[in-house]
Amino acid sequence: VGDVQDIQELRRSRPMVVPERYVRDVNERPALSTVLPSLPVPVIDLSKLDCSSRLETQEEMAKLVSACEEWGFFQVINHGIDEELLEKMEKLAKEFFMLPLEEKEKYPMPPGAIQGYGHAFVFSEDQKLDWCNMLALALEPAFIRKPHLWPTNPPALSETLEKYSASIRRLCQIMLILIARNLGLSPNYFNEMFGEVVQAVRMNYYPPCARPDLVLGLSPHSDGSALTVLQQDTGSIGLQILKDSSWVPVHPIPNALVINIGDTIEFECSDGNTQVLTNGKYKSVEHRAVTNEETYRLSLVTFYAPSYDVELGPIPELVNDKQPCRYRRYNHGEYSHHYITNKLQGKKTLEFAK
Ligand code: SIN
Ligand code: FE2
Repeated sequence: VGDVQDIQELRRSRPMVVPERYVRDVNERPALSTVLPSLPVPVIDLSKLDCSSRLETQEEMAKLVSACEEWGFFQVINHGIDEELLEKMEKLAKEFFMLPLEEKEKYPMPPGAIQGYGHAFVFSEDQKLDWCNMLALALEPAFIRKPHLWPTNPPALSETLEKYSASIRRLCQIMLILIARNLGLSPNYFNEMFGEVVQAVRMNYYPPCARPDLVLGLSPHSDGSALTVLQQDTGSIGLQILKDSSWVPVHPIPNALVINIGDTIEFECSDGNTQVLTNGKYKSVEHRAVTNEETYRLSLVTFYAPSYDVELGPIPELVNDKQPCRYRRYNHGEYSHHYITNKLQGKKTLEFAK
């Protein structure tokens, strides 16, 4: 693939002309004006789901159901994760990206893998590049960890990431209980089926760009996870989700976390009668990141997914027609490999299941 230039280093010279490899084809350029202010991404107050007041709980649960069915994305507030921990994680991630390039390059991301510092999903010379630097680390199960790719600078990063990820893991377990109940499944359906879950973190740093209208911070894609939990800094806007053919921004709310349904849940919640791509009850929604002219943006993304040996496919309880399932079953490991060895391109990776 040749050398992909580090985007923060490129930015240092404040180029007024964006290098060709970052300039998107006309039909891919972000129209920065497709903002639908009347349609905010749903915000779910998790403290209302503790059953203290029945009516309030029911109303909030109904919001969660429609968020999953209509949006595939929502923000959670009062999620119980210590705000100081969120702030610390964000601060340390930023400190890492501010280190000199030589320091960050001690943890190089190998080609075709997503661990370490660098550029994931780059597979050809003519592929357009994302205006983004990444630090990706796999946490669970322990055997997928690559300890030599865990930065020792800033010193508190590793330890804080462990605590952070344990908290996000508990949040995912709670969300999966709620989602299972809303689907009419037993509360621990997903938590049991998922076995030894796979959990990984990707930190994305988007430097400012002189021409945000020409580039993308992150190409459109759906996530290969079951659930994704995203923390974004409040200083800028960048995440956009595809809703009814328009790109809708996800406005940062202090201390809120953005959660979205990943491909795995889409596979499992499809009715099994027609193509996965058209018949998921819960969809894994396409999203992308745009850049800003003046400000950088940081996002911390946790991917939570079933054990690699879990077979993906419609949950029998959700298949209510007699027609056989038309797509093949395969395990999460196969899907995960397929996902990380292809470029990000909308929902294309789901075609793997056809
Ligand atoms: C992602 O989809 O992995 C990150 C998007 C963002 O930075 O908001
Ligand atoms: Fe994503």
